[in-house]
Amino acid sequence: MQSSILKEKLFINGEWIETEGTHQVFNKYTGELFSEIALADEKIVDQVINAAVTAHKEINFPVEQRYEVLMRAADLLKQNQTALAETIAIEGGKPISDANVEVTRSVSTLQVAAEEAKKLTGEIIPNYNAPGRFLYTVKKPVGVVAAITPFNFPLNLVVHKVGPALAAGNPIIIKPASDTATTTVKLCELLEEAGVPKGYVQCVVGSGRTVGEQLLNDERIVHYTFTGSPAIGKHIQQTIGLRKATLELGSNSATIVHHDTDVEKAAKKIARMANVNAGQVCISVQRVFIHDSIKEAFLDTLVREVAQLKVGDPLNKDTNVGPMISEKEARRIESWIDEAVSAGAVVLTGGKREGSVVQPAVLTNVKKGMKIVDEEAFAPIVSVSSYDTIEEAVALVNDSKYGLQAGIYTSDLKLSYQIPYLLEVGGVIINDTSSFRADQMPYGGVKESGNGKEGPAYAIQELVETVTVVVNLEE
Ligand code: SIN
Repeated sequence: MQSSILKEKLFINGEWIETEGTHQVFNKYTGELFSEIALADEKIVDQVINAAVTAHKEINFPVEQRYEVLMRAADLLKQNQTALAETIAIEGGKPISDANVEVTRSVSTLQVAAEEAKKLTGEIIPNYNAPGRFLYTVKKPVGVVAAITPFNFPLNLVVHKVGPALAAGNPIIIKPASDTATTTVKLCELLEEAGVPKGYVQCVVGSGRTVGEQLLNDERIVHYTFTGSPAIGKHIQQTIGLRKATLELGSNSATIVHHDTDVEKAAKKIARMANVNAGQVCISVQRVFIHDSIKEAFLDTLVREVAQLKVGDPLNKDTNVGPMISEKEARRIESWIDEAVSAGAVVLTGGKREGSVVQPAVLTNVKKGMKIVDEEAFAPIVSVSSYDTIEEAVALVNDSKYGLQAGIYTSDLKLSYQIPYLLEVGGVIINDTSSFRADQMPYGGVKESGNGKEGPAYAIQELVETVTVVVNLEE
């Protein structure tokens, strides 16, 4: 793609600025330096917040303009699909075919957000006990929003925060994951070209946690939107006090495969979906619960299919599984596998690590108390356990501190109807894995998976204030 190292500035108050320090972003497969991005310090972060506050107070950003900017941005993303997908593949290690899907999804997320801008209306409140009064509501932008975004979808999960914030009429400050910040800088270039008003989108890349902490402690920011770990999610909520946050905090997602389904089809899909982006997806299938009667047939297909996945260079169009985001993360999952094996788990395929590349793994004989069961693995790994009754399967899914999404394969209509009420999760996917997301749908979990929903129509509701208006018609 490129021969020289990209030099990226920060997009601040409608201008591209250089700073004293730079942050280096590496190609996650080759380890080569990919880009150098200007680093923000305390003074710059303060300027950024000032600019956002001023934009909110002084720059009119009417609905029709929000719609146009977001639709133009969607078109620009489409036009720049190849370069964006390559950037994601290089700095995120995501296979190019999946990186392309991410860009396509981001286009759609922006378009849906644009449409939502047009639907923002208040309502007339029925008046049955307040004679002479007319009651209605209006929706107004909440104010300055800060987005703290993860490495695993460096475009679409940023767009999921920027789209609704702009659609609602709020300025947004993005602090992207530093490992994949080049993609966000490129997104800012396209948003600028799309005509976003000065100060409405700004990006700050920091070293360590200082920039994040400064954003959290500044009371001029009224809403935070975060995707990442429960530990950081809790820290955000504790730091911001009564100010609001939308928190999407991951999971150890489960999928049930019941005896009344096409076992082969389910196993093939799970083999693929447990390993998308090397398993670094919050809804990645991590725990599979399979009916006793079909366990053997299921495992045969699953192991065969997982072993056939092509592991390697994300820029190769045939690659299914690229490197993990860092060698540190790959070593972490290696140690979790070792720990599980010493407690009795059996590795049926994969699990070997070379640098940051981990061969997709299937484990069985797993139990509670193992990290690969209890914690979010965020790695190319799936464990399989069996059950006898559906009540047992439901209890196994719910025996988790997380609750983002779950999947169930079944042809039982009654069970399909009942299961959403039984599972403690924010989304139930019937006849597919937990790892399904359409960008317009409500997305967010319960328990330690967080609170609030993404999906533009839902996120936008968190980003507007409903103001009640009462008109005394008798005066
Ligand atoms: C996530 O990892 O939370 C996002 C999953 C997706 O958008 O597919």
